[in-house]
Amino acid sequence: MTVQNTLNGAETAALGLPIGTTLDRFIKRQQSQYPSAVGDFSQLLRDIALASKIVNREINRAGLSGLLGTAGSTNIQGEMQQKLDLSAHIRFLRALNNGGEVAAIVSEEEPEIIHTDHPDGKYVVALDPLDGSSNFDTNVSVGTIFSVYRRITPIGTLPTEADFLQGGRRQVAAGYVLYGPSTMLVFTTGNGVNGFTYDPSLGEFMLSHPQLQCPSDGTVYSCNDGYLAQYDEAVQQYIDQCRERGYSARYIGAFVADFHRNLLKGGIYLYPGTLTQPAGKIRLLYEAFPMAWLAEQANGRAETGAGPVLNVRPDALHGRTPIFAGSAQLVADVVQLFTDSFALSTEQV
Ligand code: AHG
Ligand code: MN
Ligand code: MN
Repeated sequence: MTVQNTLNGAETAALGLPIGTTLDRFIKRQQSQYPSAVGDFSQLLRDIALASKIVNREINRAGLSGLLGTAGSTNIQGEMQQKLDLSAHIRFLRALNNGGEVAAIVSEEEPEIIHTDHPDGKYVVALDPLDGSSNFDTNVSVGTIFSVYRRITPIGTLPTEADFLQGGRRQVAAGYVLYGPSTMLVFTTGNGVNGFTYDPSLGEFMLSHPQLQCPSDGTVYSCNDGYLAQYDEAVQQYIDQCRERGYSARYIGAFVADFHRNLLKGGIYLYPGTLTQPAGKIRLLYEAFPMAWLAEQANGRAETGAGPVLNVRPDALHGRTPIFAGSAQLVADVVQLFTDSFALSTEQV
């Protein structure tokens, strides 16, 4: 059965939040449901929206303003940093620092925890400032991914790794910005997933995709086919199955863009372990956890091959995990092949 991916007009009206509601009004409505909330969390979401508008503006004009190309440096993963990786990193850091609610940030672009000027902030944020940046110079969609935790160390002290390594089920907000033909902010705070489209003429994100539901089945698989020979047997079998079933392969090479398409239309994103990178490439804190929570909140699934992504216990700020995320049925099919191959290997022992 295919589940409709958005509410119809009547259902949307029933939520009291019609399409076109501004992000600000949406956040205020959400905050009003928690009488004890003092607004810090709402401000944090506004800061993220503000940074993404600035990054959006830089992306739109990058070919004219000298922002294309590499910066000549590498990040902790040894990957070449693009100029826009660093610029997006700085934009988000500044917005979150100026807002005052965030005490520390972990970013793909810096090895260590970044302490803001606000040790009294209640929250910490893990960030992939620019996802899919290898697409950037060719004007293909890129994104930003964020994940928010309420800190567990005492307010007023400097946050530590423990604040960031709480585990994916402790996230209090997670989302992404997709800089595509239109720019969208999609996020969850644990009450479903809502998508907002940016209207540049107004400078506002407006609710366009209320209560997104990932279709439970689909016919699209998204992985880097060039690494096929390096994947586990179970993954190779799954991809064979996709081909036998006549599924379509769609791989942009930007997690945000691939995930977003599959969230709306049905499909599965796969970044398995490879021979050279047994844990794959996707980083747990600022890629896998936020996307896994979004998938689950939209009735999809996200698995590692050994269990739900959100059950993984993180042990390093920049640790990685294999990931299979998207439509529940498609993810279940991969999980089944992992289970079968595990059963077979234990039988042979
Ligand atoms: P980032 O640009 O933040 O380093 O992330 C890139 C990730 C992800 O977005 C994408 O799906 C994947 O790398 C593509 O990797 P391959 O080129 O190995 O397929
Ligand atoms: Mn990324
Ligand atoms: Mn990145």
